[in-house]
Amino acid sequence: MLNNLPFFPPQASTGASQVDALYFYLIGISVVMSTLIAGLLAGFAIRYRRKSRADRTGALDGSMKLEVIWTIIPFLVAMSIFAWGASVYVHLSRPPDDAMSILVVGKRWMWKLQHLNGRREINELHVPVGRAVKLTMTSEDVIHSFFVPAFRVKADVLPGRYTSLWFAPTRPGRYHLFCAEYCGTRHSGMVGWVVVMQPEEFQAWLGGEARDVAPARAGERLFTNLGCASCHNPGSGARGPSLQGVFGATVALKGGARASADESYLRESILDPQAKVVDGYDVLMPTFRGLVGEEGLMQILEYLKTLEPPPAPSGEKPRP
Ligand code: CUA
Repeated sequence: MLNNLPFFPPQASTGASQVDALYFYLIGISVVMSTLIAGLLAGFAIRYRRKSRADRTGALDGSMKLEVIWTIIPFLVAMSIFAWGASVYVHLSRPPDDAMSILVVGKRWMWKLQHLNGRREINELHVPVGRAVKLTMTSEDVIHSFFVPAFRVKADVLPGRYTSLWFAPTRPGRYHLFCAEYCGTRHSGMVGWVVVMQPEEFQAWLGGEARDVAPARAGERLFTNLGCASCHNPGSGARGPSLQGVFGATVALKGGARASADESYLRESILDPQAKVVDGYDVLMPTFRGLVGEEGLMQILEYLKTLEPPPAPSGEKPRP
């Protein structure tokens, strides 16, 4: 119904109507309150102007009832904004488990995207309609921001860490993609398109043309070439913790702390091995900073995600 409003981007994702509904609720409250206040102000100014003969007896000198009413009503309105906003926020910040994963690297001044089967894109993102898509994003240089107005999603893309964003497109078409964080002289040129296709069409597109090796395979290659396997393979004398099933697991750290082995943790462990040391191991690992780029890191993480936990009877990791 709101698809053809002037000045409004089309609604093309499941989250778009939720964001718009909340937005119009806020606008509605603002309009009602502003009109009420301005109307009463003008009305009283005219009615009680100096020369008017309006009845001025019975002026209130304080009323508990009024105070309570005009405290409770705005309180309830404010809480409704909070509750609604929080529920939309929570929904938008939790991608569904079956979301299709896509890797995004921002750099001055382009968007580099890669699908998990290896297909790469620059400043264009092809996705199927009706399927949740999750982007894992980082930057090679400065802060960028991935913004697709038609999906009502925007997230900063930061150097040195991962951020993510998800959406489920609802209508085929071409939608603007912007960088929404000033990132240098050609920031305004850091734009592109999100192309939403029918699922069959998308599958044909994804499988067609020359494509790169899949990120997980490229990561496996890096894992071998960088010598990670010599310490991290289960049979290597356990100089480093086994990485079988590490992704998403909870890891016990030296000193008693625990960490959840998510993308940020694994990234930190590769670039700054001293930061969080797994309990029972010494820091023998050198940093790999400078030896592997942002895309390489993402590829290694994709490889680690494919490592199933060992079928051992106990889920505990081997300890010396
Ligand atoms: Cu990248 Cu602005």
